[in-house]
Amino acid sequence: MVGHVALVHLDHRFWQYAEQVGELTIEYNRRIRSVAARCGPTKGVTRKPAYRLVAGDPDTVTTLTEGGIKFSLDPLLVTFSRGNRQERLRVSSVVRQGEVVVDMFACVGQFALPVAKAKSSQVFAIEIDPVAYGFLLQNVRLNNLDNKLVPILGDCREVHPVGVADRVIMGYLHDTFMFLPAAFETLSKAGGMIHMHVATPMKNIASLKEMIASEAAERGFRANIVVRRVKTYSPGVEHIAFDIHAAPN
Ligand SMILES: C[S@@+](CC[C@H](N)C(=O)[O-])C[C@H]1O[C@@H](n2cnc3c(N)ncnc32)[C@H](O)[C@@H]1O
Repeated sequence: MVGHVALVHLDHRFWQYAEQVGELTIEYNRRIRSVAARCGPTKGVTRKPAYRLVAGDPDTVTTLTEGGIKFSLDPLLVTFSRGNRQERLRVSSVVRQGEVVVDMFACVGQFALPVAKAKSSQVFAIEIDPVAYGFLLQNVRLNNLDNKLVPILGDCREVHPVGVADRVIMGYLHDTFMFLPAAFETLSKAGGMIHMHVATPMKNIASLKEMIASEAAERGFRANIVVRRVKTYSPGVEHIAFDIHAAPN
């Protein structure tokens, strides 16, 4: 469930009953007003989900509260993974007072908003998709964070601030390594922390660590890397967070 919207995954044999499943889902839980069934894979750079409304209210823009933050979004247009909740809470708990934080893949503010709310930090939130960016702007206002969060529309490799960040959040699971040079450019010359998320089989972890360390060295940093498993992403593929502590070399 994302707010009042239930997202269901139906085996192909049951598609002919999708509307009945939708109606029964609404009867089952009074908080559910719309039901959408998955009709394809999440696609492309902007991670567009593929769902079709099968029952209930066609207005699927919804508001939910997580860790005291209000998020407005349409789960049929943007991805909001409830499975990353613990990770969002964890990152906002490790940010220190006064840090400058750059969220390179902000979407509707899943990481950026809790961080801005938790500490007196300055947050830059970059998002390439105008639809997700629109919700991000709404959510900044909804949570009264206008003076702490700077939303930026564009490709994080081109529009990221340079040499300012104490902490960089890379909450994007696909080819994340390609964006690492931009993350190091964003980091303050005094160093800091990069949280780099990747979807990968466990057997690739050692080589990814080596690649990160060598990219850091090329950019003038020494990297101390801690690997954490966030969740299973798909069979044989894990959602891994690399916490890269970069110190000037
Ligand atoms: C799947 S969402 C993840 C949101 C959030 N970071 C999280 O981990 O829960 C990834 C977001 O990154 C955005 N994105 C992808 N490539 C980007 C780029 N080059 N620059 C900025 N945003 C990008 C997508 O549009 C999408 O909204």
